[in-house]
Amino acid sequence: MSMRRKLVAANWKMNGSRAENARWLHGFRDALPACETVVCPPFVYLSQVVEGLAGTAAEAGAQNLSDRTAGAWTGEVTAEMLVDAGAKWVIVGHSERRAAYGEGDDLVGAKAARAFAGGLRPIVCVGETLAQREAGRTQEVVAAQLDAVLAHCAPAQLVGGAIAYEPVWAIGTGRTATPEQAQEVHAAIRARLAERDAGAAEATRLLYGGSVKPGNAAELFRQSDIDGGLIGGASLVAADFLAICAAAI
Ligand code: PGA
Repeated sequence: MSMRRKLVAANWKMNGSRAENARWLHGFRDALPACETVVCPPFVYLSQVVEGLAGTAAEAGAQNLSDRTAGAWTGEVTAEMLVDAGAKWVIVGHSERRAAYGEGDDLVGAKAARAFAGGLRPIVCVGETLAQREAGRTQEVVAAQLDAVLAHCAPAQLVGGAIAYEPVWAIGTGRTATPEQAQEVHAAIRARLAERDAGAAEATRLLYGGSVKPGNAAELFRQSDIDGGLIGGASLVAADFLAICAAAI
């Protein structure tokens, strides 16, 4: 048994409304999960989620942050503001941001460092595209993404955050990586971390993300290097998210 406690995070992406969120929070509070849980709504709903989770062990997180400190950066949000709003966590470098908003490996590393500096725990996303996997480049791509994070953050810091392996071809497609495919990459990520700091590698949570559902969560979470999940689509329904959390215990 590993010493790592399972962590399951909900990534609502650009979904929700005050009314829908209130219903979700009500359903979630009816049957609180026993694993460590994070809920990441859009920025504008952070306070609502923080209030809705009050008194539970679940924590709120943001889906992005600025790599800058406060000042004239229109449209950006600092780590400190997110902490002020009650967030404890932040997703960094999601593949949707990498692909649609041009976030490169170095910016993702800088954002992870900024999160730590501002008092947030980053969930840093890595993962290959289908073309990269088919070209046999998965390990190389993920290693480069990880190295960029390690260029900005010490391995010991990552213990306070998490790395999410999210193969791009599995996100929102219903095409989950097999437990073996996911485990193989998770083990490679941990080995690469171990080259820098064996103790930190052993203690850092590695989450899997990409079409995790109540029906496939348990066998993914049973893999020795999979320490939980980052859940998109299935996290929008409180009962499904709770069922995935239940599979993580
Ligand atoms: P999905 O998304 O569960 O809808 O595939 C996961 C993610 O993008 O974090």
